[in-house]
Amino acid sequence: MTGITRGRLLLQLIGRPGIILKTNRQRIAITESLTHRVAVAPMMDWTDRHCRYLLRLLSQHTRLYTEMVTTGAILHGDRDRHLAYDAGEHPLALQLGGSVPAELAESARIGADYGYDEINLNVGCPSDRVQSGRFGACLMAEPRLVSDCVAAMQQAVSIPVTVKTRIGIDDMDSYAGLCRFVGTVSQGGCRVFVIHARKAYLQGLSPKENRTVPPLKYDYVWQLKLDFPALEIIVNGGIASLDEVAGQLQHVDGVMLGRAVYHDPLLLAGVDGRFFADHHAVPTRRELVMQMLPYIERELNGGTQLKHITRHMLGLFQGVPGARRWRRHISEHAHRPGAGSRVLLDALEMVETHGKLTETGYCSEHG
Ligand SMILES: Cc1cc2nc3c(=O)[nH]c(=O)nc-3n(C[C@H](O)[C@H](O)[C@H](O)COP(=O)(O)O)c2cc1C
Repeated sequence: MTGITRGRLLLQLIGRPGIILKTNRQRIAITESLTHRVAVAPMMDWTDRHCRYLLRLLSQHTRLYTEMVTTGAILHGDRDRHLAYDAGEHPLALQLGGSVPAELAESARIGADYGYDEINLNVGCPSDRVQSGRFGACLMAEPRLVSDCVAAMQQAVSIPVTVKTRIGIDDMDSYAGLCRFVGTVSQGGCRVFVIHARKAYLQGLSPKENRTVPPLKYDYVWQLKLDFPALEIIVNGGIASLDEVAGQLQHVDGVMLGRAVYHDPLLLAGVDGRFFADHHAVPTRRELVMQMLPYIERELNGGTQLKHITRHMLGLFQGVPGARRWRRHISEHAHRPGAGSRVLLDALEMVETHGKLTETGYCSEHG
């Protein structure tokens, strides 16, 4: 961990409200020794900075990833729009999309200057748009190029450069092929591989179908850890509960959760205690909403629209009586001109009133 990153982590740990403080050295030791034990996946349009701010209130140690940002967007676009984040989001990885070593190196350097803790290369996205740019999952067919990309990035930055990939593409889906890929890319300097445990079909399936149709093969990922014990192997795909996380950790170094956390963020609430031995107080749903309000006020003052933040909060009451009212009120009001914190406070009151009525038997409708 660099001095700057360590300093940021300290600030983040000291500054967090409502948390029983361990000594800073204890916290840093926890985070450093188990860097990828639990992570939230990069998800385009979903894990933006507002979403990550919310998730960070629930877990201090879970590693968060940005959405994929292309080298073109960083080198020629509105840099701050793509790369700015809240200081509280660490530990935070920037995921890059690209395949030109020099462009990736420059983008990684810029990302490191922004203070990211890790640069991750996307070798798993099968969308047509990404393929036409010759990056994402189609790069699995070019391990030598991926290795060169990693080497160029690693030369440009002192933070770790990691790779997120699949177990294969199309009919290139043998375990031996995956080993060749990982072996070659590790020679470029990659020590951490996140493996989505299903292959991708480059033709004929949409990105969404490519996240459900190809079967999950966790045994490929577990075997990788046995064959490459010096590498950190992180499994991803279809993992939906903390018990499943615990089961996976018997085989690999870490687990990356995607859709399950997005749809039910409270899943993260048990992570620090169970997987990082850090038993700090975790906010209740109400406290979480209240902790979001100052952030929301700040963002609204800076020109953000309420709906861009609240869309990530729709799942907060997942599985709780009144959840449907919460979602409906926010969906109907957050997009209106001038909408602010009141929308959330009203929705909270609705869900709590509904909960009380349900408890006392006055109302049997759930959700
Ligand atoms: C809406 C959405 C957007 C995604 N965007 C990205 C992305 O930008 N980069 C990436 O590597 N994977 C992306 N993914 C794939 C996830 O990172 C993850 O590999 C996949 O959802 C499987 O994990 P899960 O079953 O836990 O959701 C995306 C997934 C979803 C649902």
